[in-house]
Amino acid sequence: MTEKSAGGADGAPDAACDTPPIKDTGLRGLVIASTKVSNVMGKEGKLIYRGYRIEDLAINANFEEVIHLLLYEKLPSKSELAAFKSRLNRERPVPDAVLDALRTRPSDSLPMDILQAAVPMLANHDPDVSEATREATLRMGTRLIARFPTVLAAWERIRNGLDPVAPTPDLDQSGNFLYMMTGKMPDSEVDHFFDICLTLHAEHSFNASTFAAREVASTQAHIYAAVAAAVGSLSGALHGGANTRVMKMLREIGEKDRVKDYVDRQIQSGGKIMGLGHAVYDVDDPRARILAPMSKRMGERSGDLKWYEITRELEREAKAAFKEKKGRDIPVNVDFYSASLYYAMGIPIDLFTPIFAISRIAGWVAHVLEEQYADAAPKPMLYRPESDYVGDYCGPDECQWSPMDKR
Ligand SMILES: CC(C)(COP(=O)(O)OP(=O)(O)OC[C@H]1O[C@@H](n2cnc3c(N)ncnc32)[C@H](O)[C@@H]1OP(=O)(O)O)[C@@H](O)C(=O)NCCC(=O)NCCS
Repeated sequence: MTEKSAGGADGAPDAACDTPPIKDTGLRGLVIASTKVSNVMGKEGKLIYRGYRIEDLAINANFEEVIHLLLYEKLPSKSELAAFKSRLNRERPVPDAVLDALRTRPSDSLPMDILQAAVPMLANHDPDVSEATREATLRMGTRLIARFPTVLAAWERIRNGLDPVAPTPDLDQSGNFLYMMTGKMPDSEVDHFFDICLTLHAEHSFNASTFAAREVASTQAHIYAAVAAAVGSLSGALHGGANTRVMKMLREIGEKDRVKDYVDRQIQSGGKIMGLGHAVYDVDDPRARILAPMSKRMGERSGDLKWYEITRELEREAKAAFKEKKGRDIPVNVDFYSASLYYAMGIPIDLFTPIFAISRIAGWVAHVLEEQYADAAPKPMLYRPESDYVGDYCGPDECQWSPMDKR
């Protein structure tokens, strides 16, 4: 054992010590598992769910078909889709006890915290929670998918002093959420656009929240535990939380002619411009290219194109500034245009990220099933990476025990 200095008199690191540099790879570029669920091709700007291009799914499929594709590994036939829709319909109501528990929460609670807190409460009412089989996990996953919109819409009403609205069998996932949130039947174009948004956000390979879900699932914990972890991960500003922050940024900018000044300030101060940059895409996120015209259309419909136009100008100015000052391109990501789009749809800003969750839950469920019940070898293993222990203040060696009165 080597005796070493515990730092200065105040216990702070000794200035003479060379603290080793902290390594944090963020797991970039590291392949840690195989998956059949989706592929993100960052250099080409392509995204596929189980072999199907996101552009084709967005135009041709509704969200229920996409969920079916993710969960059952194939697009549904007409009868399979009808059966799956009626299954979702049956599962959509949440137990009264969960709604009662939501009523006890402070009305200014963060909606992502509410959604995360609801997950174990839903587990408490699920008869399958102790059954560790693929069939039971699929049933629980389907319930989670069906109930996330119900919980979120109920919370939006409860926090505003209103009674929750029960789901209706006349609408799908998308329309039901809008209906349960507002109490009014949704306009068909808004419903259609929202359905596309749900499809676009449903899956994105080993992003942070999906990785969190898979990591928990790899311990053989049940799907509710995995999904609760994923919701927490999605709430972060660098992940799903970015869409809310994009809208706050647009409001801070306020006018199109203030965009350049904002971009210059951010780049000069090393601040982030939300909705730009991506850990995998080198070129624009294909979902952003689908969302941009939708944002424009919704802006036109609402009679307020300002937020779309600021976003567009911000994209132009930020890309030009990046090229000029950093000598490289910066891509737009999925959160960039979804913010002005949701805003034009009349969705409250702090619901943008939970809305991401009511879609991404489909991907999480598909990944938990793959993590726990993949039929192909090699079977996924318990995640257990290693770290590089660099010791504390003065090196990696062990410390000599120091009794309380000598510290
Ligand atoms: C998503 C994100 C974390 C990806 O990270 P990454 O690829 O590992 O990139 P880094 O954060 O390491 O940044 C690499 C460089 O680009 C810059 N950069 C990346 N995104 C930026 C952004 N949105 N605004 C300004 N600069 C950005 C970084 O400052 C850094 O510059 P430097 O090399 O001069 O130090 C990052 O782009 C980001 O924070 N974006 C804003 C948040 C966001 O929109 N998140 C949603 C993702 S879908």
